[in-house]
Amino acid sequence: MGFSRIRGIFFGLLVLTPAGTYAHEHDPVEAGGKIAVRCAPCHELNGISRYPSIPHLAGQKRDVLQTQIRAFLEKSSKLSRPDVTSRSEKVMEHAADGLSKKDIFDLAFFYSSLPCPLPVKQSPSTAPEVVTRCARCHGDNGRNTYKNVPDLAGQQQQYMENQLRALRESGLVPNDPLVTRQRDHPIMGPQALFLTDSEIKSLSAYFASRSCR
Ligand code: HEC
Ligand code: HEC
Repeated sequence: MGFSRIRGIFFGLLVLTPAGTYAHEHDPVEAGGKIAVRCAPCHELNGISRYPSIPHLAGQKRDVLQTQIRAFLEKSSKLSRPDVTSRSEKVMEHAADGLSKKDIFDLAFFYSSLPCPLPVKQSPSTAPEVVTRCARCHGDNGRNTYKNVPDLAGQQQQYMENQLRALRESGLVPNDPLVTRQRDHPIMGPQALFLTDSEIKSLSAYFASRSCR
């Protein structure tokens, strides 16, 4: 046995030994998976929803998931603040109620670790022209490397349509704290403002048909 082989075994042992102790430490994927049982009636245990208006969560970015869950938890109180992600939706506000910071971290870890959903339909295969406005952030095919920009590839078409309409709506109503707006965001809000209904439909259909892998 050569020296390098012995050295390999030696280093192998050094690396292996502490791993045993790590096993008792907090595993966010496992912890998140336990809390996710509560979310499964709507988002399924595998994070791939069966309902058109309920988003898939599997494979979505960790930061995106954390931000969105926190926004629901904080409810509409932030909707009058234009500088942050704000969302207000009764069903999800109820579902997020009582989640701790750590629960949210674990849930985000869990869902982002799951394999993303493959598209149900492969069509349309050609991108609507207006997609060039979205690509610089979301990527040509709905996948991007910005940690705060959601991946859209394979997402539920109906869900995306709902979100784009809600974002557009926020831009159209005055910034009045008494008006309940479903969703707003300082960067994405203005992007949705000038989309027509038919553009919202075609863009959502296009991104829904893209493969996330
Ligand atoms: C009773 C059904 C229901 C339950 C239970 C539920 N959700 Fe949701 N969830 C929804 C709906 C509906 C939406 C879309 C809300 C909207 O249109 O704004 C949503 C949206 C989300 C989003 C936004 C995703 C995105 O791409 O922006 C996240 C994240 C999320 N849910 C996480 C969770 C977690 C974590 C749990 C469990 C603690 C949970 N949900 C439980 C129905 C549910
Ligand atoms: C300058 C960057 C930027 C551009 C351009 C942009 N987006 Fe976004 N988009 C974002 C960010 C950031 C978010 C997350 C907003 C939040 O935190 O609520 C987002 C969120 C979304 C969502 C919600 C996804 C979910 O999981 O809930 C959809 C749908 C979407 N964008 C579609 C589009 C479309 C369609 C276009 C082109 C017309 C577009 N975006 C252009 C940055 C961008």
